[in-house]
Amino acid sequence: MLLQRLSLTNFRNYARLEMSLPHGLSIVQGENAQGKSNLLEAIAYLATSKSSRTSNDTELVNWLAQQDPYPYTRLAAEIKKGDRLERIDITLLPAVGNGGFRKQVRINNVPKRAIDLVGMLLAVLFRPEDVDLVAGAPGERRRYLDIALCQIDAAYCRALGQYNKALEQRNALLRALHPGHQSQAELRFWDEKLAETGSLVIARRQWLIIELEKEASLRHLDLSGGYERLRLRYLPSFDPKTSTPGESQGEQGVRHEGLAAEDVYGSFLSHLHTGRRRDLASGITQVGPHRDDLGFYLGERNLRSFGSRGQQRTAALASKMAEVSVMTHVTGTAPLLLLDDVMSELDANRRAMLLDALTSVPQAIVTTTDWQPFAGTLVEAARRLHVHSGQLEPVETLPT
Ligand SMILES: Nc1ncnc2c1ncn2[C@@H]1O[C@H](COP(=O)(O)OP(=O)(O)OP(=O)(O)O)[C@@H](O)[C@H]1O
Ligand SMILES: [Mg+2]
Repeated sequence: MLLQRLSLTNFRNYARLEMSLPHGLSIVQGENAQGKSNLLEAIAYLATSKSSRTSNDTELVNWLAQQDPYPYTRLAAEIKKGDRLERIDITLLPAVGNGGFRKQVRINNVPKRAIDLVGMLLAVLFRPEDVDLVAGAPGERRRYLDIALCQIDAAYCRALGQYNKALEQRNALLRALHPGHQSQAELRFWDEKLAETGSLVIARRQWLIIELEKEASLRHLDLSGGYERLRLRYLPSFDPKTSTPGESQGEQGVRHEGLAAEDVYGSFLSHLHTGRRRDLASGITQVGPHRDDLGFYLGERNLRSFGSRGQQRTAALASKMAEVSVMTHVTGTAPLLLLDDVMSELDANRRAMLLDALTSVPQAIVTTTDWQPFAGTLVEAARRLHVHSGQLEPVETLPT
C-alpha cells in the first residue's frame, strides 16, 4: 500500500495543497507553527476519519474559509494497492442547524459511510505526546488501542461506536431514574446493548494487547539493552472471566488467551446488574470498556508508577513500533509511518532505533524542525521538503 497523492483544500493552514508522495522516506522540515503537524494530522484523518488532535471537526476548517458563504474542507488521497489505484475523499460541509460540519465520505467517487474507509489507508502516527503513553491518562491508552483496532477491524469500529452511544443513553437514563425506582426494564435494555457491543470491544482489545506484547517486548530488549521483559497487561474494569464483582484481576491484569466475546457477554451483563444500585446512586455506568486501562510492566513493576521517565519512553516507543508490526501481520500490508517531530524527544539510542524503523517500512513521512538529527545517508536518499505557512517546497541542497 502506498499513498501516492494527497490533496487538501481549506484544511487548517493549508488553503490548497497538491502533493505526490514517493516510496520510502519523505522528510518535511519547518519552523514552529508552519504546518508540520497539520500535514500528518490530515493523512491520519484520511486513515481513521478522525482527527488526532480534536473531536470537533469545525477546528479543521481553515479559518479564512470559515468566512465564506459556504465553507468547506476537503481531503483526498490516491492509494496504490498492488496494481490497483483507489481514491478516497472526505469533505466537511456545513451542517444544517447547529453551525457545525458534517462529514461526507467517498471511495472511488462513490458516496460511502465513514466505516467503509477501514483498511483503505493504514497509518501509524507517532506524536511527541505519545512518549507519555505509559505515564499519561488511561484515556490515551484506550485511544492507542482503538486507533490500531479501528483500522484493521471494521466490526470493532462499529461495536465501539454503538457502545459509546448506548453508554450515553444508559447514563442519561440512570440520572433520570430515582434510586430505588421499580420499573427498570428500560435500563435492562441498555445493559444488554452495552454487553453485546462492549463484549466484542473487550475481547478484541485483549487480543490486540497479546499481539502487541509479543512485538513490543522484542523491540524493548533491543532498545533498553536490558534483560527484563516488557509485559503489556489488559486492565479491564472487571474481570471478564468472573461474574461476581470482587474477584478482581488485581494489579497484574488479565491474560486469558483468546477471550471470546460470547464468554465476556454474560460476565459483563452480570457486573452491570450487580452494580446497578451503585450506578443509579452516582448516575454513571462504572464498569465497561470505557474504564479499561493498559498496564506496562517490567517484572512485577507497573512502569506507570515505578518507571523512570526514560523507562516509560522506551516502553512507549517499543509499543508504538509494535503497532506497525501487528498491523503489517494482520493486514499483509505495512502501514504508512508518520512521525511528527519526535526525534527531539529521544536520546541517541532511541533515535537510532527509530531511524532504523524508518528504513524498514515501505513509506514514511517524518517532520522535523531541523535536519541535524537525520544521519547523512538517510537524509540524502529521502525526499526533502520545506514547509512554510502551509506551503510545501522541495529542498535541493541542505543548509550546512
Ligand atoms: N483551522 C485552522 N485554520 C488556519 N490555521 C490553523 C487552523 N488550525 C490551526 N492553524 C494554524 O496552523 C499553524 C500550523 O500548525 P501546526 O500544528 O501544523 O504547526 P507545526 O509546524 O507542527 O509547529 P510545531 O513545530 O510548533 O509543532 C499554526 O499557526 C496554527 O495556529
Ligand atoms: Mg507540530
